[in-house]
Amino acid sequence: MSAKIRIGVIGAGNIGNVHMENFSQLTDDVELKAITDVYLPLAEKRAEEYGISTVYETAEDVINDDLDAVIVAVPNKYHAPLAIQALKAGKHVLLEKPMAINEADAKEIYLTQQSTGKMVMIPHQMRWESVPMQVKEQVERGELGEIYHAKAGWFRRKGIPGWGTWFTQKAESGGGPLIDIGVHLLDLSLYLMGNKKPVAVTGSTYAEFGPKRKGIGTWGTPNWEGSYDVEDIASAFIRMEDGSTLTLDVSWAVHMDTDNQPFVHLLGSEGGASIRGNEGKFLTERFDKPMEIALTKPENDEGERLRLSRHFVECIQQGKEPITSALTGYTNNLILEAIYESSRTGKEVVLNWDAVEGKQ
Ligand SMILES: NC(=O)c1ccc[n+]([C@@H]2O[C@H](COP(=O)([O-])OP(=O)(O)OC[C@H]3O[C@@H](n4cnc5c(N)ncnc54)[C@H](O)[C@@H]3O)[C@@H](O)[C@H]2O)c1
Repeated sequence: MSAKIRIGVIGAGNIGNVHMENFSQLTDDVELKAITDVYLPLAEKRAEEYGISTVYETAEDVINDDLDAVIVAVPNKYHAPLAIQALKAGKHVLLEKPMAINEADAKEIYLTQQSTGKMVMIPHQMRWESVPMQVKEQVERGELGEIYHAKAGWFRRKGIPGWGTWFTQKAESGGGPLIDIGVHLLDLSLYLMGNKKPVAVTGSTYAEFGPKRKGIGTWGTPNWEGSYDVEDIASAFIRMEDGSTLTLDVSWAVHMDTDNQPFVHLLGSEGGASIRGNEGKFLTERFDKPMEIALTKPENDEGERLRLSRHFVECIQQGKEPITSALTGYTNNLILEAIYESSRTGKEVVLNWDAVEGKQ
């Protein structure tokens, strides 16, 4: 491996650009070396902005270049084929969330990662936000005691992204707000609860806005020629092996009084933690009185995306497993699929861990 980690970028859209902004700051350790986008002028524009030497016409060209890692920042449907191809070509992969559009694709990524020994990291930036990091530290120090329940979610009142584009077509995205924003809250909650093993899931999804072309947000440009076949709200109950539980509620659009902020509440035997947006509280009881400590993001915070970029680089340099690994990505996809299945069947879904336990 050369001194600098050589990275190729597949997908120069919104989030691809965010990754380039951050990795380009790690000049001592990283060289952004190649880029592609199906819309080539965008790849060329980014190459100029970030001093990337090679613009390729296809993702395959990037994957086959002499690189250490690739960033996959394209619509969800392409995550599995591109990540698998990159792993097989000996590249580490920073793979945008959700890891895949369904459990079967996620399983294939996970098994390929295991067999190639290359790394997959899912950039769930919320794990690197300042307040969740402070909460995680308190959880690990035992300040919350046993976490027996958590409530997580994100209610957007009018936030359907890119109506009619890949975002709102299940075959392209895998689902609506559950897989788009719910996956972040699911991932963060499982991490803060201590990566307990989830065993059973019930859930329901609804679509009262999108099909009527209501609830349209400002993210993405609508394509009125397109279609909408995903949910606009989802509600789920997830049970862990040790009996602890998690509720997950997310919407793109809902008639509800909401502050439009992501939240996680952890309920522990000795204390609790509430995270809302960039702020949080540690809560407990002392001398028969409720006690709270505010948790805030420092003013000079360097930012979660820079921290996650550095983590990716360090994992490659030191041969470490990233904290948002292929296994955590697979776990999220397993649960998301179970929520959709439970909604379809009206029954609880017991999670099948055979792929991970080598039984399949
Ligand atoms: N972590 C986060 O907070 C976050 C935020 C937004 C999006 N995302 C994820 O990032 C991914 C991309 O989302 P986005 O908002 O950047 O979308 P986007 O539409 O802005 O960008 C996607 C880009 O990929 C290009 N593209 C499509 N297929 C391609 C292919 N096969 N090869 C090369 N380029 C291809 C498109 O031309 C486009 O420029 C999605 O999986 C999304 O879920 C994550």
